[in-house]
Amino acid sequence: MGSKTRFTLAQISDTHVRADDGGVAARQVKKALAQARDYQADVILLTGDLANDERADEYAVFAEAIADPSAPLYLMPGNHDDRALIRSTFPTHTYLPRDGFLSYAIEDQPVRIVCVDQIVPGETHGLLTKPQAEWLDRTLAAEPNKPTIVALHHPPFPTHDLLFDKIGLWDGDLFASVIAEHKQVQRVICGHHHRVSFGQSAHAPVIVAPSTSWVYGLAALEGQPIAPKTDEQPGWMLHIWNQGQFASHFMGL
Ligand SMILES: [Fe+2]
Repeated sequence: MGSKTRFTLAQISDTHVRADDGGVAARQVKKALAQARDYQADVILLTGDLANDERADEYAVFAEAIADPSAPLYLMPGNHDDRALIRSTFPTHTYLPRDGFLSYAIEDQPVRIVCVDQIVPGETHGLLTKPQAEWLDRTLAAEPNKPTIVALHHPPFPTHDLLFDKIGLWDGDLFASVIAEHKQVQRVICGHHHRVSFGQSAHAPVIVAPSTSWVYGLAALEGQPIAPKTDEQPGWMLHIWNQGQFASHFMGL
């Protein structure tokens, strides 16, 4: 594996699977997974808001939708998720810690992926918290020379959206202060906003993946509609690392 120079990550985000939508959201997930198969993704990472309403019946529908992935598949929580239900629905996902935060690192690929859980149960915004910042710092320090992606749910930078800056990662400065110490972090990836955008955290570019279910419009100026659902194309993000260089592609559904 050490000599492998190509690595492809399928990032699928904000699937918001429901039990009462006639399978619409679940079909979008299956479509994204089929595309990921076509592109021979090495790893599939779901960056949160797996279910829409934190309900067991929704996680059952979601589990069926992801039952046949073409590559190792990893789950992260978003603000619409419940840690206990993720654990109980997916007992075979043994990379998930048994207690506390659902933070972990994917180690067995040419690119390391460090996934940090920064959700706040019952709240829409995200918070890294000091213990998680220390976990992230410690985890990144363990492999200082390996190209690394850090994944989280909430964008860690101000997107300049009137709503999403209120419900983003409240302590993005703390997150950036950790990233700044670890130059091997080449990308930060997240979701939550249901629209593609790009930002920065310390030296690392941040890429916000779209939702597979729906796209929100941008409220950048006072008076513009807050988080209107649009008819823009939902999708997912394909991150390709080859010969030491990253490129990230929006994949429409
Ligand atoms: Fe979210």
